Amino acid sequence: MAFPPSFIDELVARNPIEDVVGQYVNLKRSGANMFGLCPFHGEKTASFSVAPDKGIYYCFGCHKGGGVINFLMEVEGLSYPDAVRALAKRCGMTVPEDEQYQSRYRQQERLWALMREAGRFFNEQLYAPAGKECLEYVQRRGLTKGSVTRFGIGFAPNSWNALVDAMRKKGYTDQELRDADLVGEKNGRVYDRFRNRLMFPIIDVRGNVIGFGGRVLDDSKPKYLNSNETLIFNKRKNLFGMNLAKKTKYPYIILVEGNIDVVALHQFGFDNAVASLGTSLTEEQVTLLARYTEQVILTYDSDEAGQRAAQRAIPMLEKAGLQVKVLKMEGAKDPDEFLQKFGAEKFKLLLEGSANRVEYQLNAIAAKYDLRLDDQKVRFLHECADLISTLGSPVQREIYAGRVAEAAKISVDAMKMEIGRAWKRRQAQQKKKQEAIDLAPARALQPKSRTIHYENVKSAMAEECIIAQILREPALLDKTKALLPDMFSCELLGKVYGQLRQRHEAGMDVSIAVLTDLNGEEISHITAITQRQKELVSEEALADCVQTILAEHQSSSVTSEEDLRALQRKLKERKGLGV
Ligand code: CTP
Ligand code: MN
Repeated sequence: MAFPPSFIDELVARNPIEDVVGQYVNLKRSGANMFGLCPFHGEKTASFSVAPDKGIYYCFGCHKGGGVINFLMEVEGLSYPDAVRALAKRCGMTVPEDEQYQSRYRQQERLWALMREAGRFFNEQLYAPAGKECLEYVQRRGLTKGSVTRFGIGFAPNSWNALVDAMRKKGYTDQELRDADLVGEKNGRVYDRFRNRLMFPIIDVRGNVIGFGGRVLDDSKPKYLNSNETLIFNKRKNLFGMNLAKKTKYPYIILVEGNIDVVALHQFGFDNAVASLGTSLTEEQVTLLARYTEQVILTYDSDEAGQRAAQRAIPMLEKAGLQVKVLKMEGAKDPDEFLQKFGAEKFKLLLEGSANRVEYQLNAIAAKYDLRLDDQKVRFLHECADLISTLGSPVQREIYAGRVAEAAKISVDAMKMEIGRAWKRRQAQQKKKQEAIDLAPARALQPKSRTIHYENVKSAMAEECIIAQILREPALLDKTKALLPDMFSCELLGKVYGQLRQRHEAGMDVSIAVLTDLNGEEISHITAITQRQKELVSEEALADCVQTILAEHQSSSVTSEEDLRALQRKLKERKGLGV
C-alpha cells in the first residue's frame, strides 16, 4: 500500500537522517557530510557517509545507500511499512493505516505472542511430571537450570494435543496455530507438530520467539524438527543465540554448528557463541554477524562435513570484511563435548591458539598430500605458493614462506621464487580479465547489482544522468517536460523519474528520501548514481541526454513495429500455405 506522500514527507522531515543513523553508527562531521563505520559491512576505515542536507546515506565501500526509511529497513531488517511505523513511533506521528497492512501487522504481533506462549508452555512442561525423562536428558547433557532459563529451553510432551489445547485455552485459533507452524493437520483436525522433543526457541535480535528447533531425546531420526518459514520466521536471516551474543563483551563471535554447542558455550562463559539454523551459512547471516562484530572464530565440528562447511564459510565471511579464524579441536567432535570433557580453560587455550585462516588453509592443503613423495610435494608447494601470493602483506608472505619451506624441507629462497611465480601468474590472469572488461564497455557500465539490468546501455547512461541531475536540482524537471517515464529504457529509472516528476508538479519535495515502492537494492542503485555524478552538467548536456532517450525510444518502437509487420507477413504466408 502507499502511505500518503504528505505523510511520508513529514515523517522524513521529522526524522533527520543523521539522528536515526546516529543511533547505530558513531558519526563524525567532516564538512557538509558526516562519516562513520558502515553498519552493513565490516570495515576499519569510515567509508559510510551521511549527507544531512540531502537526507541520504551512502557507503563508498559496499555501495549501499538511500534515505532514512531505507536505512531503517536495511539495518533492522524491516519491511517498508514497518520501517515507516518505527519512524512514526520515534517522532510521535500516527500512521494512517491501510486496512490490509494493519491486519498483517496485527497478525505478526499475534504470532509473536503465540510463539512466546508456546515457548513458555514447553518450558513449564520440562518441570511437569511428563517432562521427567527430558529433564533427565538435559541433566545428562550437563545443561544447568540457568542455561535452560536463559535459552528458554523446554519439552514438547509426547501427545497429539497438549500444545493445541493449551493454546486454544489462551484464545489462539487453529488458523493461528497453523500460521505459526506449530501444528500438523489430518482430516481437518490440527495436532501438535512437536512431540516428545527437547525444544530450543529461536529468538531474533529484537527478542521475539520466531521459531523452534526440537531435538529427539535419543538416537532416532530425524534428530531435529525445525519450524518451517512463517510470516515471522526466516531461517536465512537469523542465527541461534544471536539475541544473547549481540550483547557480548568479546570482540569476536564464535560460530558453531549445533544448538547444544551454543548453549554449552554460553554456560561455560562464552556468551558470544551462535549457530546457523541447521542450514549452511547464508549471506544474510553473514551480514547479521557483520553488524555486531569484526571477527568470527569458526568452530565447526571436527568431522569432514564440518571442515568442508568451514572452508565454504571462510570466503563468505571475508567478503563481508570480517576477520576469520578457525579453531582446531582434537579429542572431541564438537565444542559441547570438548567443554564437558576438558573444561572452559582448555577451550580458552584453543580460542587463543585458533589459527588465522591462512594457517588453517595451509594446514588443509598439507593434509591433502604425502610430503614424502616428490610429486606430491611439488603439488603441495604449488598450492601453498598460490595461497601465499594472495596475501597483501610482505611480512605475512615472508612468515608463511618460511613455514612452508620448513615443512617441505626446501630452502626459503626456492619457496619465495615459487611465490613470485604464482604472483605473476595471477597478475597476468587479472590483466586479461581487465582487458576483457575494457573491451566490453557496455558490460562495464551495467549496474553492479544482480537484479537490475540495462537493456539499452546508451539510453540508460542518459537516463542515469537525468535522474542524478534532477535529484541535485529539481527545477531541471521543467526542462525535461518532453520526456515521459515510459520512454525510459530502464523501468526502474523510468519509475523513479515518474515519481519525482509527479512530486515536482505537485509542488512537493524531490529527493531520494521520499521515493517509495523501491526495494533496498533499487534504492542503493539510485543513490549510487547520484554519488557518481556529483557535478551539475550544462543545460546543453542535459538536453543531449533528453534527446538520446527520445531517439533511442523512437528507434526501439520503430523496430518493434517493424517486427510486428514481419510477423504479420509470416502469418499471411503460412495461411497461404494452408498451415
Ligand atoms: N540439524 C537439523 N536437522 C537435523 C540435524 C541437525 O536441523 N536432522 C541442525 C540443528 O540446528 C543442530 C545443528 O544442525 O543444532 C547441528 O547438528 P548436530 O551437531 O547434529 O546437533 P547438536 O544440536 O549439536 O546436537 P548433539 O550435539 O546433541 O548431537
Ligand atoms: Mn553437535
